[in-house]
Amino acid sequence: MFEWTEGWSVGVDTIDAQHRELFAAINSLLREEGKPAPRELAEVLVYLEEYVNNHFGLEEIYMRRLSYPGFPSHKGEHVAFINDFYDLRDEYDDNGATPELADKLGRYMGDWLVNHIGKVDKALGVFLREKGKK
Ligand SMILES: [Fe+2]
Repeated sequence: MFEWTEGWSVGVDTIDAQHRELFAAINSLLREEGKPAPRELAEVLVYLEEYVNNHFGLEEIYMRRLSYPGFPSHKGEHVAFINDFYDLRDEYDDNGATPELADKLGRYMGDWLVNHIGKVDKALGVFLREKGKK
């Protein structure tokens, strides 16, 4: 389980609120003793598709409006996530909610939390706070 603590905060309320929701979605994949729960998979995939559109959109608007110097590489990570997400969804369309896919998605998302939210979004948060966002 990925527990939300203040350590995950990027310091901007709108972004944090959406990140907390993402944690809950990922945890629903891992609900049973840290093992993936395939029956949640369809729900999580629907959620993630909406998430990538809304949440990445929000961060990208902030970055563009405030001329964030890290915008191209940050945006690049969002694009890579979207591509990987649709690959995983293709797998779901082909084979359904297998434990293997739940496991793969759970691990992918765990990496995303640590490496994107924990690093790249945090760096953005520092910049946004300097610009007066909170
Ligand atoms: Fe981001």
